[in-house]
Amino acid sequence: MERSQRKLDHIRHALATVETGANSFDDVSFVPNSLPNIGYEQTRLDTEFASFRLPSPLIINAMTGGAHSTTQINQKLAIIARERQLAMAVGSQMAALRDPSVAASYQIVRKENPRGIVLANVGAEATVEQARAAVDMLEADGLQIHLNVMQELLMPEGDRDFSGYLERIQQIRDSVNVPIIVKEVGFGMAKETMRKLIDSGITSIDVGGRGGTNFAKVENRRSAQPLSMFEDWGLTTVESLLEADGEIHAQASIMATGGVRHGLDVVKAVCLGASAVGVAGALLRLVHAHTIEECLAEVDGWHHQIRVAMTALGLGQLADGIKTPVLITGKTAERARLRGRS
Ligand code: FNR
Repeated sequence: MERSQRKLDHIRHALATVETGANSFDDVSFVPNSLPNIGYEQTRLDTEFASFRLPSPLIINAMTGGAHSTTQINQKLAIIARERQLAMAVGSQMAALRDPSVAASYQIVRKENPRGIVLANVGAEATVEQARAAVDMLEADGLQIHLNVMQELLMPEGDRDFSGYLERIQQIRDSVNVPIIVKEVGFGMAKETMRKLIDSGITSIDVGGRGGTNFAKVENRRSAQPLSMFEDWGLTTVESLLEADGEIHAQASIMATGGVRHGLDVVKAVCLGASAVGVAGALLRLVHAHTIEECLAEVDGWHHQIRVAMTALGLGQLADGIKTPVLITGKTAERARLRGRS
C-alpha cells in the first residue's frame, strides 16, 4: 500500500466513520454558580502548554500531509490557525522523511503561518535524526511523538514490533531542542503510561482519547480482515483525563483530544485538568465542507462558547478551571471508580 494512498484513505474514512453523537463529555456536568462575580469581558482564553503561551486553548491537532492532494487541507487549516492564533500540528511526517517530494504538503503550514506555533509530528519508531529532520522541515516550535499501537496492529501494513519506544522517546527528548509532546491518537492514555513518560522526562502529554475519530474503525474499513471487536478499545478522553492524578499534574501539562465537539467540551476538559484541547476530526469535516470564512466563524463560535461557560462558572482564566467542581456520572463514573479515580 502506497503511503500517500493511506493518507487519503485516512481522510476519506475519518470523514465517513466519525462519531458525532454522545460521548464521554456527556457524563461531565457542572454545578451552577449563580454568583459568579465576573463579567464576560473579563474572561481570558490564553493558556500555557508545553512551555508555549497560547492565545487560545484550541490546538489544531495532527492530521495530514504526505500526499500532494493533502496540501490544500493543510493550507486551509494553516490559514485558520494563523487568523485565530491557534497552534497547529501536522500529520505524521514519516512519509516526507522517506520521500522528500511530498515535504511541500507539510511545509505549506509554515509558509501560510510564518510566525505561528507549528508542531512537527513523528511516530515513536522515529530515529533521533528523523525527529530532528521533521522539526527542521517546518522550523517547528515543538514536536509531537504519536503512540498508536492499536491502529498499527489493525493496519494491514502496520508495525508489529513496539519494543524500545520509551528509550527512543527519551533519546529524542535528549537531542531535539524544542518541547516534546507525546500523544495518543484516540485510544486514550492510562496513568501507568503517563507515569512512564514522566519518568523518562516527558512533561507534555496529549491523552488522545476515544470518543471522536476512531482509528480502529478507520483501519477496519481499509482492511480485508477487519477486527471489529477492537472498535471500543481504550479509554475515552474524559476517562483519560481522570487518570491523571495530582502527582501527574504536578509534573506534566496535559492536553485533551478526542471527540471535542464544541466550546463547552473544551471547558469540561480544562476543568478536568487539561491545559490545552486538541481538535482533529471536527476541523477536518469543517474544512472539507466549508469556506475559510465559515470555518473562522465556527472557531469564533467555539471561543464564544468557551467564554460563556467561563463566565457562568466564574472563571476569569482557564488555569483556574481545575478548582471548579465537576459531576461525573454514568459509565465514565463507573469506570473511573474501577481505576480508583472517583
Ligand atoms: C489523525 N490523527 C493523527 N495523529 C498523529 O499524531 N499523527 C497523524 O498522522 C494523525 N493522522 C490523522 C489523520 C486523520 C484524518 C485524523 C482525523 C486524525 C489523530 C488526531 O491527531 C487525534 O488524536 C484524533 O483524531 C482524535 O481527535 P478527534 O479527531 O476526535 O478530534
